[in-house]
Amino acid sequence: MAVKENFLPGKVGLAPMAGVTDYPFRKICFEHGAQFGFTEMISAKSVLLNISVNEVYFPREDEKYLVGVQLFGADPVELAEAAALVQERGLWVDLNAGCPVAKVVKRGAGSALLKDIGHLKMVVREMRKVVKRLSVKTRIGWEKDEFEKIYDALVSEGVDVIFVHGRTAKQMYSGKAKWDIYNPGVVPFYISGDIYSKDDIRRAMELSNVDGVIVARGAIGNPWIFSDSQPSIEERLKVILKHIDLLYQEYGKHGVVEFRKFVAGYTKDMPHAREFRNKVMKITDVAELKAAFVEYFKNISAQHKQEVV
Ligand SMILES: Cc1cc2nc3c(=O)[nH]c(=O)nc-3n(C[C@H](O)[C@H](O)[C@H](O)COP(=O)(O)O)c2cc1C
Repeated sequence: MAVKENFLPGKVGLAPMAGVTDYPFRKICFEHGAQFGFTEMISAKSVLLNISVNEVYFPREDEKYLVGVQLFGADPVELAEAAALVQERGLWVDLNAGCPVAKVVKRGAGSALLKDIGHLKMVVREMRKVVKRLSVKTRIGWEKDEFEKIYDALVSEGVDVIFVHGRTAKQMYSGKAKWDIYNPGVVPFYISGDIYSKDDIRRAMELSNVDGVIVARGAIGNPWIFSDSQPSIEERLKVILKHIDLLYQEYGKHGVVEFRKFVAGYTKDMPHAREFRNKVMKITDVAELKAAFVEYFKNISAQHKQEVV
């Protein structure tokens, strides 16, 4: 275990996902046992230009002590100033040093920070001056695995926690994520990548002797990855309806469109899921969407009962 004290409230958290880990989804995951989470990544530049346009991303009162605010950017001073402004909004501030998406990398942000470790160190140094609790979420390298160098650089600048996705930036999401990662145990250390089940959580934790893991895609439509039990059909439906309601409260009518990201996950391995998904992806009305799920689950339930009898 790490020498530095860990401010995170647990071993298994929800990883940041832009466009996915909004307040409604975080709430669903916390209710199922996720022990902490992140905001979606927020641009430091945009925080400095107009903090209020980012209000939708910041942690809400009821989750304030569970959520870290993730910032992305390239400029050390800009990142430090933005971090100082937002740090009281959540439990901690996380620097995104792992996003491989072209429009982020083009600006020298996200995983582009790994191209020049000297620059990454400068960014962390400036942020460290003002941030009380600081983590970095990174990858194992830009185009080759040089995680030892990255880890040592981050530790030398005094970060409190490291999160690492076990792929290089160049790999994007291809290949298998590495779980057996350099971890000399100086700071609390969490890994990410290809964690789709309870068993994956356990094995990934054993392999790197880490303090914990963060789950990303494996939680989409499957918040039960955080809990100890598999949902019954009724429970699954209840959570789906609640998620739709939360999205409606958050985004109004647009919540129906937002929910589409979760449909495949919530209906994974279910009978006639393909036809059902094709149907619900076209629905634009919230009542109609909920009714479609109720009907679909009623049929599955009836079928299930028949099979049992
Ligand atoms: C849709 C999507 C959005 C993501 N957005 C972010 C982000 O905003 N910040 C970040 O650090 N990582 C982001 N990631 C990376 C995840 O946090 C995670 O490290 C990666 O998906 C590997 O974990 P997984 O295999 O469990 O999905 C994103 C991943 C996905 C799939």
